[in-house]
Amino acid sequence: MNTSLRDELAHARRETDRLFDLIAPETLYHRPIPERNRLIFYLGHFEAFDWNVLARRLKGEKSFHPTFDALFERGIDPPPGEAPSDSPSDWPALDEVARYKAQTRAWVDRHFDDLDPLVLQMAIEHRHMHSETFAYLLHSLPPESKRAPEASQTSQPRAPRAGTSPPSNPMIDIARGPVTLGKTPEGFGWDNEHLAHQVDVPAFRISRRKISNAEYLEFVREGGPVPHFWSPANGAQNGAAKSDHWLFRGMFQTMPLPLAWPVWVTWDQAAAFAQWRGLSLPSEAQWQRAAALTSPDPRRDNFNYLRWDPVPVDASDSVAPPDAPVQMNGNGWEWTRDLFAPFAGFAPHPFYPGYSADFFDNRHYVMKGASPRTARLLTRPTFRNWFRPDYPYMYAGFRTVENSKVENSNVENSKVEN
Ligand code: AVJ
Ligand code: FE
Repeated sequence: MNTSLRDELAHARRETDRLFDLIAPETLYHRPIPERNRLIFYLGHFEAFDWNVLARRLKGEKSFHPTFDALFERGIDPPPGEAPSDSPSDWPALDEVARYKAQTRAWVDRHFDDLDPLVLQMAIEHRHMHSETFAYLLHSLPPESKRAPEASQTSQPRAPRAGTSPPSNPMIDIARGPVTLGKTPEGFGWDNEHLAHQVDVPAFRISRRKISNAEYLEFVREGGPVPHFWSPANGAQNGAAKSDHWLFRGMFQTMPLPLAWPVWVTWDQAAAFAQWRGLSLPSEAQWQRAAALTSPDPRRDNFNYLRWDPVPVDASDSVAPPDAPVQMNGNGWEWTRDLFAPFAGFAPHPFYPGYSADFFDNRHYVMKGASPRTARLLTRPTFRNWFRPDYPYMYAGFRTVENSKVENSNVENSKVEN
């Protein structure tokens, strides 16, 4: 039974290990994003999580390196303007961290068959989540400090479809009806996915595609805020919007803004765009109801480490019915208008009580879907992600909705027992 989990762990470790091959060792002491730890933290954090959860909490094992267990236990999520101020010399040497990593892996491999599969899955999914964290941290480093892997390993498209006319983005009618949010207790799910409940969603319309760079560019031309992933082509910092020539900062190369790619923005920018259009962001329930009309496929929808950058928003069209949304999973997470909050029946996980509860602070918004760097395991329909509304680094875009004219905002909030 644990054989496939062993494969899942091996796969997750491979994905995180190969991220470290993209940079020179000394780059690990850099901090590409002010609000996050230096890269070296993640080298330790992948293993410290596994050690703290699987060895210490689950098996009551005695620590072989208590200092590292604590140093690498938790990431940070500071409020705006409160970035950390540690320096590279505050962090241990690479070979010490490498030894901690090797020792932890050896323990996990030795005890694998005695470990609760649900807790193992938690560790595997945690690793995948930070595989994405690490990717978007590396994304913020200049291309010259990264070694692009062979094209055969990355499926990186050679030339982006820049300059071609962007696809249209019609609104699709979704009839009133029920949707189930959250999951039933059996099988693995994070604490915030529990418990399952039905929500009645009034009729609404949703954009068939993610909002593209072309659509968002119209907003920028009218003074809308510029996405983190864009930079002005003339290199000028000021008056850039006037130049109207934009570059997209991809993972390994900067290129003319691919108009047909989804725009990646903050929640604030997404909400401002929607408002400018007289629309809104989808609620989590609306998003889920629209997503239920589709079935995720990594090859066409661009998730599960298929690429490092987006594909056009209409890349999945050939296989999608014309009246259904496309790319609900993949090619970028999607912001919802809902604050991250617990479902009825929420209980913190005993081995990781702060995973969600620390973020039920009305300062984080729910995100659904997946990005190119999101593992297939995390595309379970009930999986929920969240970030602060001004967080610009995540691979996240959005689509817009038009709510039904019949105002009945109570309906969506009335939860029906399953
Ligand atoms: C749920 C993706 C916001 O990246 O901070 C990983 C996941 N929490 N380790 C994050 C997480 C602790 C979390 N997100
Ligand atoms: Fe973590």
